[in-house]
This record gives sequence, C-alpha cells and structure tokens, in this order.
Amino acid sequence: MTAPWDFPDYDDHEGVHLFRDQASGLTAVIAIHSTALGPAAGGTRFWHYPNRADAITDALRLSRGMSYKNAMAGLPMGGGKGVILADPQRTKTPEMLAAFGRAVDSLGGRYVTAEDVGMSDADMVEIRKQTMHVAGLPVGSDAAGGDPGPSTSLGVFLGVKAAIRRAMKRDDIAGVHVAIQGVGSVGGTLARRLAAEGAKLTLADVDAARAERLAAELGAVTVAAGDIARVEADVFSPCALGAILDETSIPLLSAPIVAGAANNQLATKEDGARLHARGVLYAPDYVINGGGIINVGLEYLGQGDRADVEERIGHIPGRLEQIWDESAATGDPAAEVADRIARRLIGRV
Ligand code: NAI
Repeated sequence: MTAPWDFPDYDDHEGVHLFRDQASGLTAVIAIHSTALGPAAGGTRFWHYPNRADAITDALRLSRGMSYKNAMAGLPMGGGKGVILADPQRTKTPEMLAAFGRAVDSLGGRYVTAEDVGMSDADMVEIRKQTMHVAGLPVGSDAAGGDPGPSTSLGVFLGVKAAIRRAMKRDDIAGVHVAIQGVGSVGGTLARRLAAEGAKLTLADVDAARAERLAAELGAVTVAAGDIARVEADVFSPCALGAILDETSIPLLSAPIVAGAANNQLATKEDGARLHARGVLYAPDYVINGGGIINVGLEYLGQGDRADVEERIGHIPGRLEQIWDESAATGDPAAEVADRIARRLIGRV
C-alpha cells in the first residue's frame, strides 16, 4: 500500500488526514497543503471516486491549488481541501455531514471548509452545527459570503477586460468577440456583463437549451458544445470543465486570448508551454477565478462586507498584469510564472 507521501502529487503537504466514521458511512480526506499564510482554506468535494487512491490524489492536487489561489488573491489563508468519498448512488445524509463537521473541527481551525462540487450552502449549515471552521453559509445581500458564483464572475469579467487591454490595446470591449464555454452560474453572469458593454458573444453549453435561452436574451449566437474552442473569436473563455486545454485542443484554438473561470484548465503542465508557444495570452485560472474565494474568505475572517469583497476583486487585473509582465520579461509561459509567484508567496521555492 502506498502512503500519501509516496503519491506523485504529494508536495510536502503539511498534513493528509484520513477520516472514517462507521456509523454514518463517512469516508473522507482532508489535505492541508500549506498554512504559511493562515488557516488552510478550500471547499469540500462530494464525489464518487473509482477508488480511494484517486480521492487522495484529488485532495493533494486541489489543496495545493488552493494554496496558490489564496496566495494570489492576497488572502491571509493557506491551502487545503476536503474530499468526501460518495457511494455510487451519491447518498449524502445529515449524519455523514455531521461526522464530516466533527472531522473538520478536530483539526482545530487549521482547515476551513466551504462548498465545492457536490456540496451546497445547506450542507455548510449542517456542518456549521459541529464546527465554526466553515464558510459559504447563506448571508445577507450586503455581507461578504454566500454564493461565490457572482464574485467569481466579476473577477473573470475584469480579467477578460485586462487581457483585451493588453493583447488588443483597447479599453472598451464593444464589438470584441468572446466565445464562452459553459453558461452556468459563472459563465452566464459573465455573458450578461460582457453583453452590457457591447461585446459580441458566441455561447455553448452541453445543456443546449440553456445556451439558446441566454443567447436569445442577449442577442448572441450559439454553437454546439464541441465546437466552441474553435470559434474565430478574440477571447476563448472556458467556464465549464477542467482539463480542456491539451495537445489536441490547443492547436485548434483560434482565439489569441484564453481567459475563463474553469478550474484546472490545463490538462498537463506542458499545456501552459503549448499555449505560450502559440502566442496565446493566457490568464492563469486560479488567478482570474479567485473572486469566489475572496468572497467566502472575507466571510470566514469577518473582514468586511460586499464592498470590501469587490475592492479586493478589483486587484485581480493587476495580478494578471504582473504575471504577463514577468512572462514577457523572462520568456516563460504565464502558467509557469504564476506557479512561481504563488510558491514564492507561500515560502516554497
Ligand atoms: P455551473 O455548474 O453553474 O455551470 C457549468 C456549466 O457548464 C453548466 O451550464 C453545464 O451544463 C456546462 N457544461 C458542462 N460541461 C460542458 C461542456 N463540455 N461544454 C459546454 N458546457 C458544459 O458551474 P459554475 O459554478 O458556473 O462553474 C464553472 C467553472 O468555474 C467550473 O470549472 C468551476 O470549477 C469553476 N469555478 C467556479 C467558481 C464559482 O464560484 N462558482 C469559483 C472558481 C472556479
């Protein structure tokens, strides 16, 4: 049997905690990558994994990603991630959530959870009954916190505009063509913001009716989900799945800018270099999509309201500029530069 520190994705994680509660059926992993900047924050994923090793790998990768994302967002928080191993029916019970809440609490605040894939704010309310180390709870409209989608979308919108400013040398986006993959919580709001400033939009979603409805509302056009990355646009904005930029899709890309919300857009590390070699201006995903964690981070820290969240999200374009400047100066891909800056911030070189 392989121990967590023998996994290829183990990166001197401070802790990898395995939890099992027989009474509720909970099997969970909490990985703490770094607490150098503060409590390790990152959502909990509820997912059916084919085996336990895959769940550990996911927790190791995602927690490192959260260290990078939180550091780049300027939050006094480290990186961690929870993973609950669901059964094939994805049965989630209050007892299981309570057991997970006790697991989080046992770490004494070194790990702070929130929602991720498969978890809702209602689940956070259940977990809150067992521990105070949880964010993403329902809040009032002027407060920090709650649904991270709108905050993520604001950061991506500002990031897309920063990329257009840099690559196309223009401040206004009227007539600039943006192709959006996935018009859910983040992509849908992004489309509305871009349309309000006159951008030309092409939308795609595996839920074709959803894309059609939004296109009709915004005067946009749609294409089949499989064709969106090839659309001849100024910006390709991935707002659906991860790992969509790989050795097959990158050569087919038409847009000179890639800037979107999806987590883990690059299938492998080499794909950052592939984008760079093609001259694509890439906005590293964990930098441009940091708005949501800023929102729940400030909620947990009790440091401000919605106006403060928006003020901090306003720094995302500056961070992207820093990355693009360093990339231009060194000739290194933006993805690599971002990792380097993030590791510097958390004291890992
Ligand atoms: P969502 O579930 O609300 O929307 C995703 C949309 O993508 C859905 O409409 C879905 O039908 C569509 N979709 C799925 N596969 C597709 C495909 N192959 N082609 C085209 N469309 C496809 O999710 P949400 O919250 O909008 O998140 C979007 C992405 O942004 C995800 O990768 C997520 O991890 C990432 N993200 C979201 C944050 C948030 O605050 N919601 C924060 C940071 C990252």
